[in-house]
Amino acid sequence: MKVHVKECKDIEWPSDALILPFCEDEKGVPYPDIDDALKGLLRKVIASGEFTAKRSQVSLLHTGERIRPERILLTGLGKKGELTKERLRQAGGKAATYLDGLGLSHASLSMHHVLPMHFSPLPFIEGAMLSLYKFRRYKKEDKASGLKEFTLLGKPERDFLDSLLWTEHLVTAVHFVRDLVNTPSNDMTPTAIAEIAKTLKKHRVSVTVLEKKDAERKGMGAYLSIARGSQEPPKFIVLRYKGNNGAPLALIGKTVTFDSGGISLKPGEGMEKMKYDMAGGAVVLAVMRVASAWRLPLNLIGILPATENLPGGGAFKPGDVVKTIAGKTVEIISTDAEGRLSLADAIGYAKKSRPKAIIDIATLTGACSIALGNEAIAMMGNDTCIMERLKAVGEDTFERVWQMPLYEEYGEYIKSEVADLKNTGGRTGSLVAAGYFLKEFAGDTPWVHLDIAGTAWIEKEKPYIPKGATGVGVRLLANFLKELSYEDN
Ligand code: BES
Ligand code: MN
Ligand code: ZN
Repeated sequence: MKVHVKECKDIEWPSDALILPFCEDEKGVPYPDIDDALKGLLRKVIASGEFTAKRSQVSLLHTGERIRPERILLTGLGKKGELTKERLRQAGGKAATYLDGLGLSHASLSMHHVLPMHFSPLPFIEGAMLSLYKFRRYKKEDKASGLKEFTLLGKPERDFLDSLLWTEHLVTAVHFVRDLVNTPSNDMTPTAIAEIAKTLKKHRVSVTVLEKKDAERKGMGAYLSIARGSQEPPKFIVLRYKGNNGAPLALIGKTVTFDSGGISLKPGEGMEKMKYDMAGGAVVLAVMRVASAWRLPLNLIGILPATENLPGGGAFKPGDVVKTIAGKTVEIISTDAEGRLSLADAIGYAKKSRPKAIIDIATLTGACSIALGNEAIAMMGNDTCIMERLKAVGEDTFERVWQMPLYEEYGEYIKSEVADLKNTGGRTGSLVAAGYFLKEFAGDTPWVHLDIAGTAWIEKEKPYIPKGATGVGVRLLANFLKELSYEDN
């Protein structure tokens, strides 16, 4: 969907539908001028009680050629005092998917008198854009109808056009992640992801792909052990974005293109979903893209230790001991606790660049979704300051994070008799034990871990997120970096 801005009166711009958002407790009839032009139609609908403007309620009225837009879509925002950015996003998503579902192609929205209390129309548009994602890659017959154009009417405020452009970059990046994650593992192999990463080489982004032999030479035995059961060559992908000369911030994304569990095979039911085990890596790619599009003044390293986890003849096995790049040895208890192995080596690799902080994002544990459902990212780390910032940005973007503890007692859970660590201590505390495992590799480098196992994929759609891959993490991390880069300078 393309968003345009036009200096034109709302009733004079020809669109399939003019969206009129308003609040439940609005006094009198909102949009009196439009109501007059429609000879009291709005007044009538409101008096009938058919439309009360409660949250996510919509009502479509035909205008009968009395004004240029063919229809009006009344869109409820709920109570005025309870209005938030997120409610606006949700209302935008609702309005857009409704019109899209009717096969209408052109919507408009007035920028002047739409919103109470200095709310910008931007979150409404953001929600509309985010909601219109469709995964089309394997569907030939998809009809061409649907919302394509969205015109904002009126004179934009200062900086509005810039903010709109930034929002468009962000939404494009979210859609990019959804595409990568929805694509099945036969097409989204480590090799395919490496090729996609290379396409991001522009605007201060450079990309290096370490092959298996390079990773061997560097001693990434934990990461490489995962790839042994698969025919797909592993690709350790490193991106650098150089927006200034400061110490870099490292972003690491779990990139297991398919997680069968390996020899510790997962049950068959629902296994097809394990194509989404590369969602963290997709988010890192997308965030590098946004940082570059936004020209953020900071220095980033993005790391994707890409591999597939299959139980082939050469596969690693429970009981094996592997050695990480940091020199620590790990006893494999379950080959299904593979993500932390790849992250341990990625963290060790990142530390060689002396980063000022490391953030990893990963679909790491089933226990994450058991604990928090599909509503929050589980966060653990050793740096309170970064975590507090992430919490605040999480509330603002509604990609909420919830902090979990890393008590030193969890260290006991992953003590091994034969190696420095074991890769799992079983079901008890498996969300935090996984975090603790990573902490052992982060050492004294400021580090935060984000477990997106519960939020990266949803089975039931949300107001602006269709079911399937959500793209969660992009808006959180991009906005976090934006804040960070403009504050440090
Ligand atoms: N990729 C999975 C975690 C996962 C499960 C993500 C369900 C999304 C949905 C991870 O590699 C895994 O298998 N973790 C195991 C760890 C266990 C063996 C300690 C888990 O959580 O079951
Ligand atoms: Mn696994
Ligand atoms: Zn996994």
